[in-house]
Amino acid sequence: MLLSVKDLCIHFHSHLDKPVKAVKHVNFELNEGEVLAVVGESGSGKSVTALSLTRLLPPAPQCTLSGELHFNGGGNLLTFSERQLQKIRGGGIAYIFQNASTALNPALTIGFQIAEAIRLHAPVSATKAKVFEWLKKVGLDPERHYGAYPFQLSGGMQQRAMIAMALACAPKILVADEPTTALDVTLQNQIIQLLKMLQKSEGVAIIFITHNLSLIKGFADRAMVMYNGEVVEQGTSEQILGTPQHPYTQALIQCIPSLEHAEQRLKTIEDYQIL
Ligand SMILES: Nc1ncnc2c1ncn2[C@@H]1O[C@H](COP(=O)(O)OP(=O)(O)OP(=O)(O)O)[C@@H](O)[C@H]1O
Ligand SMILES: [Mg+2]
Repeated sequence: MLLSVKDLCIHFHSHLDKPVKAVKHVNFELNEGEVLAVVGESGSGKSVTALSLTRLLPPAPQCTLSGELHFNGGGNLLTFSERQLQKIRGGGIAYIFQNASTALNPALTIGFQIAEAIRLHAPVSATKAKVFEWLKKVGLDPERHYGAYPFQLSGGMQQRAMIAMALACAPKILVADEPTTALDVTLQNQIIQLLKMLQKSEGVAIIFITHNLSLIKGFADRAMVMYNGEVVEQGTSEQILGTPQHPYTQALIQCIPSLEHAEQRLKTIEDYQIL
C-alpha cells in the first residue's frame, strides 16, 4: 500500500469562534498506480485532506491535526520534521491545482520552471532534453513552448505545463485538486485524457479531487464521497455511480446532466410556445 490515512482529524482555530472541524475521522488507502476520486461539495474538506498529506496547512495553533498518515511504508507523517517533509513534497507527492495561471511564475519561461521543478525534487539531471521530453509528453510543442512565458499560453496549455512540472519530479502520487474546473468542457476532457494516459505511462497514483461526479467514469478506480468533513461512502467508481448507498451520493448523481435525463432539462421558450 502506498498511502494509508487513519482517523485523520483537522481542526482550524480562531480567536473568536469554536474550532472549525474541517475533517472528521477520515480513513482511506491508496495503492500504487491507483486513481482515487475524492468527491463532494464546496467546503466538504477535500482540499484540506489533500494538503494534510504533505502538511501544507497553516501551523499549530491555527490548525491542528491528529491521526496517522503513512506514505510508502514510512512513519507517521504527522510526526515528521520540516526537513523530512520537504523530501516528500514534490518528489513523493506532487500537486496540481485549479488555477495554473496563478501557480506559474509569470516572469519565468515554461522551460525554466519545469527544469527548476526537476532540479528541486528529482534525482535526475534537469537537462534541456529532459524538459523537451516532458513538454512533448503533456502535448505541448517543445520548440515553441520551452521559451514561452505563461501569458503566451492558453489556460489548457498552462495546466499542461503544470502537469509536466508535477510529474517531471517522478512523484509516486499526483494530487489533482479540481484541475479542470477553470476550463471549458472540451478542455476539461482533454486534460482528463492526458492524466489518464500519463497515469498509465508513468505508473503514478492519482488523487483526483472534484465536485463533478461525471468526470470519474472510466478514470477513477475508486471514489470516496465527502460531506461536511466526513467520508460518507467509499467504493469502486462503478459502485458509487451505479448503486450509490448514501442519500448524499444519490443527490450528487442526480446533479449529473445526462442524455437519459433529457426530459428534466430546462424548458426553452420554444417549448412554451408549443404548449
Ligand atoms: N486556512 C483555513 N482557516 C480556517 N478554515 C479553513 C481554512 N482552510 C479551510 N478551512 C475550512 O475547512 C473546511 C473545508 O475546506 P476545504 O477547502 O477542504 O473544502 P473543499 O471540499 O476543498 O471545497 P471546494 O470544493 O470549495 O474547494 C471549510 O469549512 C473551510 O472553511
Ligand atoms: Mg477545494
